[in-house]
Parts: sequence; C-alpha cells; structure tokens
Amino acid sequence: MTTIKFTAKKIDDPNSGRTQCLILPIYRRKKLSADAQSVNKSASGSIAATIALGDFTGKSGESCLLPGAGAAKRILLVGCGDPASFDKAAARKFVQTLGKALNAIHASDAVLHAGDLKIKEGNTAWLLNCLARQLTYATYRYTETVSKPKPAMKLSRLVVNTGDARSVKAGQKALDQGAATGHGINEARRLADLPGNICTPAYLAKQARKLAAENTKLSTTIVEEKKMRELGMGSLLSVTAGTDQPAKLIVMNYKGGKTGERPYVLVGKGITFDSGGISLKPGAKMDEMKYDMGGAASVFGTMRTITELGLPLNVVGIVAAAENMPSGGATKPGDVVTSMSGKTIEVLNTDAEGRLVLCDALTYAGRFKPQVVIDIATLTGACVVALGAHATGLYANQEKLAEQLLAAGVESHDRAWQMPLWDDYQKQLDSNFADIANIGGAGGGSVTAACFLARFAEDYHWAHLDIAGSAWDSTPKGATGRPVGLLTQYLLERAH
Ligand code: BES
Ligand code: MN
Ligand code: ZN
Repeated sequence: MTTIKFTAKKIDDPNSGRTQCLILPIYRRKKLSADAQSVNKSASGSIAATIALGDFTGKSGESCLLPGAGAAKRILLVGCGDPASFDKAAARKFVQTLGKALNAIHASDAVLHAGDLKIKEGNTAWLLNCLARQLTYATYRYTETVSKPKPAMKLSRLVVNTGDARSVKAGQKALDQGAATGHGINEARRLADLPGNICTPAYLAKQARKLAAENTKLSTTIVEEKKMRELGMGSLLSVTAGTDQPAKLIVMNYKGGKTGERPYVLVGKGITFDSGGISLKPGAKMDEMKYDMGGAASVFGTMRTITELGLPLNVVGIVAAAENMPSGGATKPGDVVTSMSGKTIEVLNTDAEGRLVLCDALTYAGRFKPQVVIDIATLTGACVVALGAHATGLYANQEKLAEQLLAAGVESHDRAWQMPLWDDYQKQLDSNFADIANIGGAGGGSVTAACFLARFAEDYHWAHLDIAGSAWDSTPKGATGRPVGLLTQYLLERAH
C-alpha cells in the first residue's frame, strides 16, 4: 500500500517548481483564480479553452486532466461547484473526486494549489485534515489473499500550497493529523477485511505485540485463558468454549500523558468469527461475521493513530478476542455462567456473545482507574434495523461524554446517534435462574444489549458504540474503518 507524504507550503508562483501533476481547484461559473490564470497563461490558454468548450465546467464531482505546461507534467482540474455553496459536504466531495483522479493516473508527486478554497463554516485546518485523511483512505487496497491485487496508487508525495505563509504551520499539523487518522482507519479496514482463518485471536495478539515493539510508549500484555480462569472471567470463557482457537484478552497500554494521569480506556469486541454457537446463525451472509471483530479493529486503528501522533494522553486499548463456534464443549442455551464481576448470567442465546466477552473486559477495565471507558462493538442486528449504515448507535451513562462523542462524530464526519439507556428497559433482562439474562426478548434489541453492558460499567463514566451497521459496507464488500475517525477526533480534543 502506498503512503502519501503530505507537506504544507506557501508557493508564490504556481508555475515554479517541477511536478508530475499540478492540481487546480476550479469553481463553477467564476472567474479563474489568480493561480489558475497564471497556469492558464503558461499552458497557452488550455484551461480557459477547455472550459469554453464545455468539456469541464467546474461542477462538483468533475475532474479533467490536461497536458502539462512549463515545469508541470500534467494539469489536473477538479470541480468545486458554486463558491457560495462550498460547504463541508462540497469540500468532502472535492477531496473524493481528487482521490479518484489520483488513483487513475501515474503521477508520483503532485502540488495542490489550495489557497482559493474557502469553506463555508469551516477553516483551512479542517479542510487539510479531511484532505490527508481521505486521500490516505483512497490508497487502501486489500492485498493479503488475492493473487493480483488492484494496482497501488502511484502518488507518494503531495505538496499543498496554502496560499499564505501564516497558515503553513497549522496546515502541516492538520495534514499530519489527517494522515495519521487515515493510517489508523486503513489499519482497522485491513484487520476487519482479513478472513477468520487468518485473523484469529492469536493473530490479533501478534498485531498488538508488533505495535508495542515499534513504540516505546506502548506496552502490551496478553491475558491467556489460564489467567482468565484465575481472574474468574467465566462469561468470556463461556463464549470460547466451543472453539479450538484460544481466546486472548489483549491489553495495549499507551503512556503519552503524565504519570498517574487517569487513562482513557477503549474496549473492543474481537469476535474473529461469529457462527452464533449452538444458537447457530442461518447460512446466508454468515461470511460477514468475520467482521465481528470490527470494534477490536477500531481499537487497533486508534492506537496506531495516537502512537503515530504521540498524543500527550494515557490511553489503554483492551480487545476481547475469541471465536464463537458450536461443538460438544460449547456453551448451551440455558447454561448459567459467572462473570468476573460476580454477577451470574443465564445464556439464553449463545449468539448474543458480544456482551458476554465485553462484560468481563469492562470489569477488567476498572483496574486502570479510568477517566472514561468507551466500548466499541458490532453488537446487534437490531442496531442495523434502527439506524442502517450511516449512524453508529451511541449509549452513555454520562451526558457530557455522550455530547463530546456526538460532537467528535460530526467534526470527523463519522457520526453517531444517541439512543436511550433508560432503566425502563432493564427488566427485559430479568432471569428466573441467574442475576441477569443475556438477551432482552422482543423489542429494542440494541437498547437491551447496551443495558446489559451498563450493569458492568457502573463504576465509571462509560459509553458504548454499536457499530454493527457502520463498520462495513456490503456493496462492494469491505470494512469502513469506522469509528476510528470519531475516536481519534475525541482523543485529539481531550489532548489540548
Ligand atoms: N455479531 C452479531 C451482531 C450483528 C448482526 C452484527 C448483524 C452485524 C450484522 C451479534 O453477536 C449477534 O448475533 N447478535 C444477535 C443478538 C440476539 C441473539 C439477541 C442479533 O443481533 O441477532
Ligand atoms: Mn452473535
Ligand atoms: Zn457477534
């Protein structure tokens, strides 16, 4: 996979300096910018001529490749639409169009003249963060198990002309943050796209050790099944009872903040394949259950981003990794298990396994005296019914935390929607034979799953992100890397 190196600069003359590709944003029905005019001149009027011919209008979503002029090998025009409606959505479309165009050509470096891009209700830092994140996103290729993967993007270096010297420093910071976020998102996509026979709990543990080896501020501990038994994690262990793959509780401890400062803890559901267990799922689309470690993937992705940026925060990433399979040793409906918290759970449906691994991980998270705990999980089909693919379901036991996460989602365009965590739903989890049942019966399936988790998160500020709908796309099939954008935005804001 290509990594693009982004550099902010102030360039006085757009015709100066060699480049494989000179990129000009062009608004519709507007006089050419000063930069575009001077490039047009050195290109003997080809930009104006192309617009006059009607072949390129500057409409949003449009791009046009012209032969080079002077020191530029090519000129790429990218449409911005009407200047008055160039808002954040239009800017995102601009960046997407640019990414597509760069994937289609062979330029290994490019210069984008961005001085003319003024966003309604946005600023240059937001734009450059979005640019670096989305272009990095566009470099992603799934390569691991295909003989002839799609060719990689050729671009390895992009200079952004900010148009004024004062924005160069802030611009570079925004580019660095956007690129690091893109790397985290792509890492999450890679892990989630991997098939279940490669991406096992042991494979995930190896990824954590690798991340720690590359980073002095990060250390990794793997809690093995023997230790889980000693800790009394009967709930997590009940999920892994039917598989040959050993479960792993993966702990990544990043110490970027002051010693003694309470950490932010991220807990990811890492079911590397969810067959449903004895409550076996139907066959159709069962392959998609390889994505059931999407929450874990987002924890890995976020850890990668914050280590790359060296964020001055303490962050602990915990991944509860296991495979959910049926076998003679598997947990059966009606079995009662004892969680690490001491609460007993009646397993009425072995397919409601995410909450069973998460509850013990949440109890374990308490050891870190967390400032905040956020769990991320492809937890319920009901969440997909409620919200579809666009919004992540958000639940929180503290309103301020909910607001901060919602705001981070809007800022990064990785949005969540708050759902109720009312006590009224709790009685759906009553059991005659244990302290709590693992399913809530008809109605509100995403809510009752969150209510189950809430019982294990009473000692700290906690939020739960149900990403069953947002973590992957079905056409074409692939992981989205969400909610790495939301999580990194949230942590970046806490680091100020
Ligand atoms: N991993 C699934 C949730 C899921 C379903 C994610 C579809 C993405 C798409 C989870 O473990 C599960 O099976 N949940 C059950 C819960 C039910 C048994 C209460 C579900 O949603 O059907
Ligand atoms: Mn399940
Ligand atoms: Zn599952």
